[in-house]
Amino acid sequence: MTTLFDPIHIGRIAAASRIVMAPLTRNRAGAGGVPPEMAATYYAQRASAGLIVAEATQISAEAQGYIATCGIHTPEQVAGWRRVTDAVHAAGGKIALQLWHVGRISHVSLLGGNAPVSSTARTAAAQTFTLDGMVDVSAPRALRTDEMPRLVADFRHAARNAIAAGFDGIEVHAANGYLLDQFLRDSINDRTDAYGGSIANRCRVVVEIMQAVADEIGADRCGIRLSPVTPFNDAGLDSDTQGLFNHLMGQLAPMKLAFVHVIEGSTGGPRDFAPFDYDALRAIYKGSHPQGTWMLNNGYDRAMAIESVASGRADAIAFGKPFISNPDLVRRLREDAPLAVPDAATMFGGDAKGYIDYPTLDAAAP
Ligand SMILES: Cc1cc2nc3c(=O)[nH]c(=O)nc-3n(C[C@H](O)[C@H](O)[C@H](O)COP(=O)(O)O)c2cc1C
Repeated sequence: MTTLFDPIHIGRIAAASRIVMAPLTRNRAGAGGVPPEMAATYYAQRASAGLIVAEATQISAEAQGYIATCGIHTPEQVAGWRRVTDAVHAAGGKIALQLWHVGRISHVSLLGGNAPVSSTARTAAAQTFTLDGMVDVSAPRALRTDEMPRLVADFRHAARNAIAAGFDGIEVHAANGYLLDQFLRDSINDRTDAYGGSIANRCRVVVEIMQAVADEIGADRCGIRLSPVTPFNDAGLDSDTQGLFNHLMGQLAPMKLAFVHVIEGSTGGPRDFAPFDYDALRAIYKGSHPQGTWMLNNGYDRAMAIESVASGRADAIAFGKPFISNPDLVRRLREDAPLAVPDAATMFGGDAKGYIDYPTLDAAAP
């Protein structure tokens, strides 16, 4: 029987276990969106994860939505990430980068005075974190149809840069109410062009992006993150959530992506937030790609994770908050040791405190 602690090939990536570190934005980037030097320490401390999915990272200047987040579109950012990937690899780990465009979840002060872009010109009822603290997001402008190839090219460029920076793969962020979710859901997307209206049209840009990144770096190094029902960032439920995501998976599955990473329920909240048949989605993916890695996340504890992999409901489980405060989470799960609780006050922004100073079991021992 397969266990949570067994190795797995996530596409081309040989992972030592099925325990994945979920992407975690920490808002500690330096000038120009370059990862801070201490990010190399932070990620290397967590290198015993089967795979680290590094924090959401903007694919272009326009893609930024929060203060002090990292990018992967300039040479300085690539060089900064190289320090991180070298440190993780030296510690025996594997690391992929989450590629991010926030869409309308941004503020003009972060975009040189420009409006955020989205599928729509309607403003989200959401807030973002700027130099002036939490503020309401700015009114977006709808991307023109003739800008869509450039958006796809920005994702492709970011994927190429991620590989140049030494990452083992990439994860496209299509979850949590950010730009790609803003295209998928009819609760947000009010377009009348080829990227709005029907389910096929609303899925179009995500399909084009996944094809582009797969063409660029190989599908066996690409994954996607989805959150079909999350209400995060004013993402109302689609009128046919199951139909939408079943169609999307039907388009993506033949590409044989290395992994599909699904947040069940409300991100960081109730797992049963709204009804959705995740097994049906998995069946569509596995139908075309039986070797693909089906990764689940949200509120997993040790027992749930062990059971999910043992039953075949998941091939891998991603942990978010537990990895913030337990750098040696894999060992703690293996030994059924107690888990440290993360400090909410140091999650977003700050310095080394709450970032690289959480002790391992050995260090914490009296
Ligand atoms: C501090 C923090 C930062 C997060 N940043 C990201 C992110 O960059 N990208 C993303 O897709 N999800 C992000 N999330 C969501 C987590 O990846 C994960 O889905 C969520 O915490 C639920 O998993 P958990 O119960 O294991 O923590 C973040 C969550 C937290 C608490």
